[in-house]
Amino acid sequence: MKIGFFDSGIGGLTVLEESLRRLPDQDYLYMADTLHVPYGTKSQEAVRSYVLEAVETMLSEGIEALVIACNTATSIAVNELRERYSIPIVGMEPAVKPAVEMNRATGKRVLVFATPLTLTMPKYYALVSRVDEGGIVDSLPLPELVRYCEDLQFDQSVMNEYFHAKLADYNLDDYGIVVLGCTHYPFYKDILRKILPPHIQIVDGNAGTIRRLSALLSRYGAVAGTGTGEVQLMCTGNEPAYIEKMQVALERLRQQNS
Ligand code: SIN
Repeated sequence: MKIGFFDSGIGGLTVLEESLRRLPDQDYLYMADTLHVPYGTKSQEAVRSYVLEAVETMLSEGIEALVIACNTATSIAVNELRERYSIPIVGMEPAVKPAVEMNRATGKRVLVFATPLTLTMPKYYALVSRVDEGGIVDSLPLPELVRYCEDLQFDQSVMNEYFHAKLADYNLDDYGIVVLGCTHYPFYKDILRKILPPHIQIVDGNAGTIRRLSALLSRYGAVAGTGTGEVQLMCTGNEPAYIEKMQVALERLRQQNS
């Protein structure tokens, strides 16, 4: 089966890389919306129209299932996409539920990093209201981090300065888990590991998303794929340099997770 992965930029590669490891016998089309990245600081209506247009292009390329590998795009468009199209569609959800469950025994708090748009959407509010009975979840918007990631800025000292400034008002002893609620952010797992105190676990929603994809493919009788793990990279701006950047970024993830 040809599975489409969609994101505003390179963030969704963190989800694709998980899928390549767990579902290697599928084929993949990855689409980055380079004409409009980043999404997290744009209006709801603008993001909705960008997503609908990019997904139409992916369908014309023959995708048979779709992963919206972008938390912001999922919050805004996943319901509408499911109404419009009959192919299996999986979206992202910040891993707040597992984080709250994992933290129950420790009495510590959960800190969610995400884009400003994700954190202001009703979908996020509904998720936190549903799972955060004890009122232990705090949210921190990191609008600049997507830009850093798109620029492949992985210098530890630059990022130390950024994260220390963002976390200056938080007593990290109070927290047990940091949730990465944007698919760009797992690129910073190694860097964050060196910044956050060792007792803080870092979690993201990528494995859960691929488990949901796998379950959905099973229902369609397509979990044992006939593909070879081929990845076709595309971007809305058709920039050859961006395709090369995606290849570099995917290789970085492979090394980080090997
Ligand atoms: C962005 O384009 O701002 C990031 C999208 C995300 O939430 O994954």
